[in-house]
Amino acid sequence: MIKYQTTQLHEFLKSRRSVMARNMTSPGPTELQINDLIEIAARVPDHGKLAPWRFIVFENEARKKIGKGFADIHKQNLPDATDEELKLEENRFQRAPLVIGVVASPKEHPKIPVWEQYLSAGAACQNLLTAAQSMGFAAQWLTEWIAYDIKVASLLALTEKEKIAGFIYIGTASEAPKERARPELQDVLTHWLSQ
Ligand SMILES: Cc1cc2nc3c(=O)[nH]c(=O)nc-3n(C[C@H](O)[C@H](O)[C@H](O)COP(=O)(O)O)c2cc1C
Repeated sequence: MIKYQTTQLHEFLKSRRSVMARNMTSPGPTELQINDLIEIAARVPDHGKLAPWRFIVFENEARKKIGKGFADIHKQNLPDATDEELKLEENRFQRAPLVIGVVASPKEHPKIPVWEQYLSAGAACQNLLTAAQSMGFAAQWLTEWIAYDIKVASLLALTEKEKIAGFIYIGTASEAPKERARPELQDVLTHWLSQ
């Protein structure tokens, strides 16, 4: 029963779902659409206007090239890695036509804690995800081991203070996602009552 007027955006936010990267195929967004996505990703609450994030786009051959780097690092980390595992690393970014790395890039500031800057980077990831989904694309926010490996950070030219907030995979769904269980409101909600 509808109890109040809702908007299309409201309905979208209530039902949006991520699609697993392995269930993505082409096409991905065009260059114009990518620019739009980044513009939306950067339109997040950002205490002090520090822009404590940046974006790295991986598409076409760049996904293959970086995959070779992931496989090399995986081999250094785990010399017993099988050929199958190395192939998986090589193909990691080829699961989707487009991967956008969101880098949390905190700035020195006397008043604005780094924690808030990381939160803003998380918001940028979510904006990117919902923007892509609202354009009809399949999208998923993943980190996986590559977000936490120091050699990968160096391969991606991250500075010492920077961290990967997420890799947002974007493409076309080859399979519609099923609904995912969500928490019951009473498990995550309390009302602060005055005594
Ligand atoms: C910071 C962050 C990192 C994540 N990393 C992974 C990951 O490495 N592997 C994975 O299977 N899901 C990961 N997820 C979960 C998926 O992105 C997502 O929660 C799941 O697909 C359901 O998304 P939906 O609620 O948008 O449908 C991560 C989520 C967040 C917020």
